[in-house]
Amino acid sequence: MKNLLANLWEKIVTSRPWKATFRYGLPNNPLDRSLIMTESLFFHLHPVKVNKKSIKPLYSMGLGIITTVMFIILSITGIFLMFYYVPSTELAYFDIVKLQTKVPFGQLLRNMHRWGAHAMVLTAILHMVRVFYTGAYKPPREINWIIGVFLLLATFIGSFTGYLLPWDQLAFWAITVGTSVATYEPLMGKTIQKILLGGPEVGQASLTRFYGLHVMVVPAVLFILIAFHLWRVRKDGGLAANEIPDEMEAENDN
Ligand code: HEM
Repeated sequence: MKNLLANLWEKIVTSRPWKATFRYGLPNNPLDRSLIMTESLFFHLHPVKVNKKSIKPLYSMGLGIITTVMFIILSITGIFLMFYYVPSTELAYFDIVKLQTKVPFGQLLRNMHRWGAHAMVLTAILHMVRVFYTGAYKPPREINWIIGVFLLLATFIGSFTGYLLPWDQLAFWAITVGTSVATYEPLMGKTIQKILLGGPEVGQASLTRFYGLHVMVVPAVLFILIAFHLWRVRKDGGLAANEIPDEMEAENDN
């Protein structure tokens, strides 16, 4: 059985489509290994060399990656939700009821989006705590920490603006209370609230604004910032653990 699998694998990696895609066979020397990393569209996102510690599951707990996956899930489910939802004070609530009761897999779709959003807020916070705990905010990664703060803010704004869209009692009063917090700002409080709501109280103008922010502005900002954030991780040579040579780690462990 083992031989059969080994033969099959050999056949796959020597086949034309495999070679056309990956160019090199299984790497058995450092040069081939680095060529694979630099020449593959998928692998070149990673640095050529990484420290063993940085790929230990418990080092980063994959929290940044999980947050990225949540963003992708939210974007895909969000597009499908837009097929069924109209941001009108007269239709929005009933569109959501219809989605949950009549549309095939509608409830699953809505729950994936809702729980995905809760999960993204949670994992982004935990990711920030991990980065702080491992000291990865220190130079040369300070700019990525700052981008991270904006990412967290954008994640919160996405979550807040999405909350109004179902246009139920919970959403209406949560946004009424949430935006009235802005009025406590001493100089421009009332104006900020008016800008957010598009008028003196929660109404159609607020729904239109929140919808626009939620489906266009916030996802675009998150997309650009995440792209920049990941590019910085790559340019900073991978995770901060990469700067601790494996031998030193071994000495510290002893
Ligand atoms: C939408 C939110 C975010 C996404 C999608 C995201 C994504 C990622 C990913 C995929 C990584 C590399 C792998 C990993 O650590 O798991 C990373 C690393 C990093 N992130 Fe984030 N991140 C987010 C928010 C934040 C926040 C809130 C901060 C801090 C304020 C932050 C600061 C950093 C830093 C400094 C690194 C480098 C870590 C190291 O070298 O060990 N990120 N991020």
